Amino acid sequence: MDFRNKHVVVTGGSSGIGKAIAKLVAQRGANVAIIARRQTLLDATIEELEAARTDHAQVFRAFSADLSDLKQAQAAINAITADGRIPDVLVNAAGFAHPGYFEELPIEIFRRTMEVDFFGTLYPCKLVAPLMVERGSGHIVNISSVAGFLGVFGYTAYGAAKFAIRGFSDALRAELKPHGVRVSIVFPPDTDTPQYHYENQFKPLETKRIASSAKLMQAEQVAQAVIEGIEKNRYIITPGFESTIFFWLTNPAFGLVRWYMDRIISDPGGIGK
Ligand SMILES: NC(=O)c1ccc[n+]([C@@H]2O[C@H](COP(=O)([O-])OP(=O)(O)OC[C@H]3O[C@@H](n4cnc5c(N)ncnc54)[C@H](OP(=O)(O)O)[C@@H]3O)[C@@H](O)[C@H]2O)c1
Repeated sequence: MDFRNKHVVVTGGSSGIGKAIAKLVAQRGANVAIIARRQTLLDATIEELEAARTDHAQVFRAFSADLSDLKQAQAAINAITADGRIPDVLVNAAGFAHPGYFEELPIEIFRRTMEVDFFGTLYPCKLVAPLMVERGSGHIVNISSVAGFLGVFGYTAYGAAKFAIRGFSDALRAELKPHGVRVSIVFPPDTDTPQYHYENQFKPLETKRIASSAKLMQAEQVAQAVIEGIEKNRYIITPGFESTIFFWLTNPAFGLVRWYMDRIISDPGGIGK
């Protein structure tokens, strides 16, 4: 995809992986809108996007919203599309993780993780997808995690929410494909971001042992993999060696099954009947 003059919306675009993606597409000439809660981080990111600008006509905008709240998500997307600009790319990177032993994690952590990570991904998709379908083009990118296809010790709450994104995105990809709208899902491994340092304080020893066996990625490397995945129209985006090897070891026939399912959908008189 040529990002010049494209409209890219990045949720969680004020920090970590989302910010790295926002900066990369800004460097490639895109107009960028970021959504997150804290205004100070949004303002600081807009300054960084301005520094990455390659064309005087590029527009960078920031919107403060808690995306786990449908009304706030609706207000942000309405503001972004008010001038008739329909996003070409929507990247859902807003999210958080709070690991811990299952017996010690309060129910509230499970509920909040599902609200932010799953519903905070669902709402922007629900609001933007119809606009993309009407236009007949667009690309939605949902950030899951290695913990979104592999059950990882210490991540009962986070894994459940990130697996939910996987099931949702698999079905969404199939439904939007006939309308010319693409979907990708990203499974980053541990990445050096503020979120990573936040969750480290709660990680059980066993989770730390698992984490230490894999290489820590930089947000810019994950962003690069996401952009390449968009450009190559990949549904599955696995930044880094460990994520790639673990995904294909645990889902070896995924491509074949997806091809079979797509064939049934596109050929109603054929193998599905
Ligand atoms: N870092 C890792 O090791 C890692 C690995 C795999 C997957 N991931 C996933 O990658 C994504 C980005 O993570 P990150 O590590 O880059 O985290 P980060 O640096 O903490 O950034 C998270 C972003 O999401 C925003 N956000 C959080 N809750 C929100 C809410 N309720 N409404 C709107 N915005 C919200 C944050 O801004 P505000 O707090 O100001 O709202 C911030 O912009 C997440 O989905 C995460 O689960 C991360």
